[in-house]
Amino acid sequence: MSTITSDIPKIYEDAADFMPIKGTDYVEIYVSNAKQAAHYYKSAFGFQSLAFAGLETGVKDRESFVLVQDKIRLVLTAPLKANTTIGKHVDLHGDGVKVVALWVDDAVNAFEEAVKRGAKPYMEPQVEEDENGKVVRSGIYTYGETVHIFVERNDYNGIFLPGFKAWNPTYEANPVGLKYIDHMVGNVELGEMNKWVEFYEKVMGFTQILSFDDKDISTEYTALMSKVMSNGNGRIKFPINEPADGMKKSQVEEYLDFYGSAGVQHIAVATDDIVSTVKQLQSRGVEFLKVPTTYYDVLEERVGKIDEDIDSLRELGILVDRDDEGYLLQIFTRPVQSRPTMFFEIIQRKGATSFGKGNFKALFEAIEREQELRGTL
Ligand code: FE2
Repeated sequence: MSTITSDIPKIYEDAADFMPIKGTDYVEIYVSNAKQAAHYYKSAFGFQSLAFAGLETGVKDRESFVLVQDKIRLVLTAPLKANTTIGKHVDLHGDGVKVVALWVDDAVNAFEEAVKRGAKPYMEPQVEEDENGKVVRSGIYTYGETVHIFVERNDYNGIFLPGFKAWNPTYEANPVGLKYIDHMVGNVELGEMNKWVEFYEKVMGFTQILSFDDKDISTEYTALMSKVMSNGNGRIKFPINEPADGMKKSQVEEYLDFYGSAGVQHIAVATDDIVSTVKQLQSRGVEFLKVPTTYYDVLEERVGKIDEDIDSLRELGILVDRDDEGYLLQIFTRPVQSRPTMFFEIIQRKGATSFGKGNFKALFEAIEREQELRGTL
């Protein structure tokens, strides 16, 4: 019944690396109120203040706050007046990820290679300079209105990007141990998954490393299909979901309805100590999906011996799954904005390179209970 195809080592041979990517550079979320969103990500998720752009730096139409936690950089951007592209984005989608920026050595080459292979341009390569050096950026569209911006910053020593100044407010929250982005998932419309899989293969040189079908990921009511794309060095992983036929509305359809198009469904962030991270997040008000505590009664039977204390996992609602290479611990937040769209995953990998397939059923049932409460199932 399972159609899992895992050939992770092959990616190093297969991925045609005409577009070497060194990592995720930043993620920019368009929001209606950047000041308040920044405070939420600081106080609740433990991000630190890094940089700012807005009226005080000569930017007239928008305000951006840049936050950092270890290798993760989040940019929260809101419009400062009516009828801006950012405002229209927020009107259509609610708060949501606009930019998944990728760190490259050559932003001109990345743009030219991508466009030559069929990418729709978003931003022609441009050089941005200040007293700290220069950055070259370019951009292409991916699913929905989401874009990838290529960032070349080898000759830059500034705090973030030219045009931004250091942001040193009096309030800072303690970090909670979030280290880097493990993967970012896109939800696309019914029948569109393979188109976007092909986009990442052809345009970006990625390789498919996993696939799940509706037999892997289904409950009594809903189903989805997913394929996981990875770049050559494995630092960038983009699972792509599409809804599958179910008796009721799937979580992917609910997302598409409220987001108004394809878009980023969740950002998975890695920690080295998920019990400590999740304890802190919960004490600061971050809300998580909870599975029934019966999940833990058969946990050891399912995944074998693990280092963590099962009572702590049960108390916090942390899930565990095992694959051939090890195990992983994960937990999912509830949506982090008013619309039931984007959420976060906290993940700790102990050898496992997969995405928690063994948890899908328990998890989806938890999501459906919440959909039922929203009346959107
Ligand atoms: Fe995930």
